[in-house]
Amino acid sequence: MAENVVVVSVDGRVATVTINRPDKLNALNADVRREFVAALEGLRTDEAVRVVIVTGAGDKAFVAGADIKEFVGRAGYDQYGVTKGFGIFEAPERFPKPVIAAINGFALGGGCELAMACDIRIASDRAKFGQPEINLGILPGGGGTQRLPRLVGLGNAYKLLYTGDVVNAEEALRIGLVDEVVPHDQLMERVRALAAQIAEKSPAALQFVKDAIKASVRMSLDEGVRFETTLFGLAFSTEDKEEGVGAFLEKRKAEFQGK
Ligand code: COA
Repeated sequence: MAENVVVVSVDGRVATVTINRPDKLNALNADVRREFVAALEGLRTDEAVRVVIVTGAGDKAFVAGADIKEFVGRAGYDQYGVTKGFGIFEAPERFPKPVIAAINGFALGGGCELAMACDIRIASDRAKFGQPEINLGILPGGGGTQRLPRLVGLGNAYKLLYTGDVVNAEEALRIGLVDEVVPHDQLMERVRALAAQIAEKSPAALQFVKDAIKASVRMSLDEGVRFETTLFGLAFSTEDKEEGVGAFLEKRKAEFQGK
């Protein structure tokens, strides 16, 4: 039987979703897109899982982009269906729990876009980033023109998208494309520690935070603050809020249930 191109493993409250085509630098073909979205869908309702890590198999790549072989001869309407149909770049954002990208190597094109669709980006010091689509005579199709300027500002986004240049992890950190860079052999240890730390928080409160932060790039300040006020009120309807406040007053560690 063929090996899955997306592998899910669960360790306690943290699931790791690994894109598993290392011989093709984890390029996103139709199977990866389908299995990745299905993997997140499966983890959505798994109450034991509170945080998800996304990474690439092998030592070389996170994801080296869309599978360029699939581009050959593909018609426009078919490509529209591929991008829209699977929704791989919307899946981490839609996912109601925190998603951390552990960027272990090349994050190019769709790989950079997938990393940007995750909530937090931690990179190996060997990681490389870029949107080289311009070199293929196309443009990013997985949200790159939208998420990149929001993260790195207009000038840096124009520069990366006009040139197709590949930048190292240090430069990615400098412009805000990633949030942290760690030595390559410590990447998963660091990401798992971060995931475990977040997994101890209230799943309900985490979900509200994700909803509110997502809204911050789509709403005006006034609308966003109103939305936050609503979520803040909603948080007061949870058992986790009673647990968190009670634990603080009783000087003990809170045990959140996501209720
Ligand atoms: N789509 C399809 N296959 C890809 C791929 C992609 N985006 N990226 C890498 N691969 C494949 C290569 O074709 C090669 O397969 P092969 O062994 O069957 O020939 C294999 O992965 C290894 O890649 P290779 O190019 O030999 O590795 P490298 O170390 O010499 O170069 C990169 C690494 C990332 C610089 C180079 O693979 C590359 O430029 N990839 C394309 C990046 C890109 O343009 N992405 C945006 C797509 S829109």
